[in-house]
Amino acid sequence: MQNTDHNENMKNIILKRTTIESKKEPPYDDIENTRSGNIWKNIPGGHKWLDYFKIYDKEFSRFVNTKPRVLEIGVYRGASLRLWKNFFGEGSFILGIDLNEQCLKHQSPDENIFVEIGDQSNQDFLKDIINRYGPFDIIIDDGSHMASHQIISFMSLFYEGLKVGGIYLVEDLECMYWGSTNTYRDLPSTSVDFFKKLIDFQNEVFSRYSCNDLSINSEDFKNQVDVINISKFLYSVTFYQGVVAIEKEEKNPPRVLHI
Ligand SMILES: C[S@@+](CC[C@H](N)C(=O)[O-])C[C@H]1O[C@@H](n2cnc3c(N)ncnc32)[C@H](O)[C@@H]1O
Repeated sequence: MQNTDHNENMKNIILKRTTIESKKEPPYDDIENTRSGNIWKNIPGGHKWLDYFKIYDKEFSRFVNTKPRVLEIGVYRGASLRLWKNFFGEGSFILGIDLNEQCLKHQSPDENIFVEIGDQSNQDFLKDIINRYGPFDIIIDDGSHMASHQIISFMSLFYEGLKVGGIYLVEDLECMYWGSTNTYRDLPSTSVDFFKKLIDFQNEVFSRYSCNDLSINSEDFKNQVDVINISKFLYSVTFYQGVVAIEKEEKNPPRVLHI
């Protein structure tokens, strides 16, 4: 088969439209079968995509009862601050930041839940948050959902404000795709384009070395390689529908062992 026919066939398989159905009546599996969903359903004022609970359980369960420090951008009615407190348990520290001063009423210092007022696109404000409360184990961006804000916040917080071993999660990336409004796409390329680009940074080291340079039993083995600063910590970049989760780990230089 010619390559062009093959490509056309693959395209037809992948792009063929289908339907997915939604159930309107409870019980909702995503809520009932998850730890986060079961907590959230009893908290008033919440508003969440149901798919998120599986993601929260998968990405955050390892921090339960480890007294994590959690930063969430976007407080609204305080529902997610309560969710995190209950989810992560005794000793966890929860900080929400929001533009809206009304959100201060969702603080509960006795329970280690705090709120600071400021703009997620203001790097000085974020720096101050890191200095006063960081570094964090978990950072969640559920704020304005604007591309420029999501990118500035990530650039300000991931490298300086997140612990090694921590996770940075950005919600509502669907805002980059809404056909009905351009409000959130306030840059020539979207925040999804930016987060996809992290995969190139993660693998950038390979563009300057050959496999033999990294082979432990070769004479020219390089035990040190230079990488751009962020790629040293980009352990994983995981995309879900509407969400990206980036794990921060200090990486070894890539090594290969031929035995
Ligand atoms: C989707 S709501 C947060 C919902 C909350 N995380 C929850 O799940 O219960 C978004 C919040 O982000 C706040 N916000 C919008 N723009 C912001 C900005 N530039 N900086 C900080 N917060 C912002 C809004 O005031 C609003 O309260």
